[in-house]
Amino acid sequence: MKALILSGGEGTRLRPITHTSAKQLVPVANKPILFYAIEAIKEAGIDNVGIIVGETENEIKSAIGDGSQWGIKATYIRQEAPLGLAHAVKIAEPFIKKESFVMFLGDNLIKDGIKSLVDEFIERKPNAQILLARVKDPQRFGVAELSGDKIVRLIEKPKDPPSDLALVGVYMFDKNIFEAVNNIKPSWRNELEITDAIQYMVDKGYDVQPHIINGWWKDTGKLEDMLEANRIILDTLTGRCDGFVDSDSHIIGKVVIEKGAEVINSIIRGPAIIGENTKIINSFIGPFTSVYFDVVIKNSEIEHSIILEKSSILDIHVRIEDSLIGKNVEVSKSPIKPKAYRFMLGDNSKVGVL
Ligand code: G1P
Repeated sequence: MKALILSGGEGTRLRPITHTSAKQLVPVANKPILFYAIEAIKEAGIDNVGIIVGETENEIKSAIGDGSQWGIKATYIRQEAPLGLAHAVKIAEPFIKKESFVMFLGDNLIKDGIKSLVDEFIERKPNAQILLARVKDPQRFGVAELSGDKIVRLIEKPKDPPSDLALVGVYMFDKNIFEAVNNIKPSWRNELEITDAIQYMVDKGYDVQPHIINGWWKDTGKLEDMLEANRIILDTLTGRCDGFVDSDSHIIGKVVIEKGAEVINSIIRGPAIIGENTKIINSFIGPFTSVYFDVVIKNSEIEHSIILEKSSILDIHVRIEDSLIGKNVEVSKSPIKPKAYRFMLGDNSKVGVL
């Protein structure tokens, strides 16, 4: 069994963060989302992993390297343009050959991993096994219509969803998926859709098994989902302190303080994580906040947010909440006069002022 991780795509719903970085490398609880997928795959006993990359190829390669850090062998497969998930499968054929494989979308997080699903697939040997989860907003996903425990129809982002069963971004296939991806036509958005490929298998009478998962799953394609993923993963951490906390500070609940981090005269209320060499001075870091490495937060309050590396937040006296702050960002108080907001914001930025 092999694995195929999809790590291309443009991440349009996470701009401006994705103007400069791959969405799969945004950290959740200070770990790139993609790393959770690799860990889940390895835990399922798979160590031969193809990684589909696009424009952010170099960034993904430098984060994962040859995969030895996880005990896997990573093979990179370049997709020249984002032509769809089924297109990614098509170009992976020389790597997969005739083996079965699990396909994992690199921006998806499945808290309970995939080991039991992979075991079930290996034992029952269907031609495909697709993961489904009940969601409140099925029109944002591929949606399945079932009749009993059989899949009848799959529709990509339907306006009028036939059910609340969304396709989770983890799929298991045997070699027959290649017949499907080589026979379907591009959709209206000019992509080879994986939903169409699976529908092809259903229509041809292949055994396509649905598997409804009850555990927590998130497609982290947009800000709210990213923050929610961060909230849930932070809650699973065990607190520890490898940095320095002065005697005027209070650490409450589950808090991870990494090596070289300093907390001075501040309150950190967990669950929260403070990255390597980050400095928190005269500040409040509230629950569900991840602060990555080399950040400075001074005289400020932050809650339910993700702050990426090398940023600084200085003298902001109104609490910052529900925010995703990119790399090397500076948020600071304007000089007293003239009284004004001063911005330099990238394209597609979002700012909420009081
Ligand atoms: C993709 C699939 C969709 C699936 C979703 C899960 O959508 O096309 O069927 O439900 O992943 O994350 P995307 O997130 O690429 O829009």
